[in-house]
Amino acid sequence: MSCLYAMPGNEAFADRLVRHTGLPRRELRVHRFPDGESLVRVELPPAHEDVALVCTLDNPDGKVVPLLMTAATLRELGAARVGLVAPYLAYMRQDTRFHPGEAVSARIFGRLLGGAFDWLVTVDPHLHRYHTLDQAWPLDGRVVHAAAQVAAWIGAHVDAPLIVGPDGESDQWVRDVATRLGAPFVVARKARHGDRDVDVTLADTAPWKGRTPVLVDDIISSGRTMVGALQGLDPAGSRAPVCIGVHGIFAPDALAQLAAAGAGRIVTCNTIDNATALIDISADVAATVAELARAPHHESRGGNLP
Ligand code: R5P
Repeated sequence: MSCLYAMPGNEAFADRLVRHTGLPRRELRVHRFPDGESLVRVELPPAHEDVALVCTLDNPDGKVVPLLMTAATLRELGAARVGLVAPYLAYMRQDTRFHPGEAVSARIFGRLLGGAFDWLVTVDPHLHRYHTLDQAWPLDGRVVHAAAQVAAWIGAHVDAPLIVGPDGESDQWVRDVATRLGAPFVVARKARHGDRDVDVTLADTAPWKGRTPVLVDDIISSGRTMVGALQGLDPAGSRAPVCIGVHGIFAPDALAQLAAAGAGRIVTCNTIDNATALIDISADVAATVAELARAPHHESRGGNLP
């Protein structure tokens, strides 16, 4: 692979990848016309070389058209394989038709973008009913796990943690993080009734009274899942709970809701750039990108959209 490009807003993460991989970053600009259309302009890619585009996919709808145009432009201008580094992958939670007539967004989104790229590197995509990434994304997909970095952060900043999973789906991350730390863990049950309406049932945490509850989930969006788990903690526990999300999407009132429910520190990985992103996952992402960079050259898929 010869170089990286960063979609707007992804320059800081891409530059971390530059530092870890030694790959250079080339210029990419997206001009927004007054009518809302976009014009992509890239510094020319080296001919017949692989390139990677960095674009995290929170708030995805406005990012998709420029992203597809950039991938197609790089191919037209001579790039061989075009890869996507998307630290956060959108739409993975809508992985079934929950109600009649609904879109299965994970599969549709995966086919749409997967058809434009040759490979994908992402961090802990929400795999629930899909067990592997290729069930939704038809390409060479590589998953980076955040558990080691999350556990390292907890080990360095939290005394005597009790790891708490706010719902059954979090079991996979919670178990992994707790095992790395040699810490106890509990996993709650959740019923979701609406975007901001969830019930969380947590086992009694009083037996771990002296410990610091550390809630760990993959995504914090409305924050209501974390709020439900915070409300289930032993009220007599003396230590302020810590909330950790791999991906901090944060709806506008989410942080305020978490604070009101008693959260102490709120920390996320830097898969999405925000004030809570204190856990740096870029070295792990870079290691996977470097693996792909060394991989023998395969024929490009040519970006055939479905
Ligand atoms: C879904 O099960 C995910 O793992 C998260 O628990 C969920 O996306 C969090 O969403 P919110 O913050 O809106 O409750």
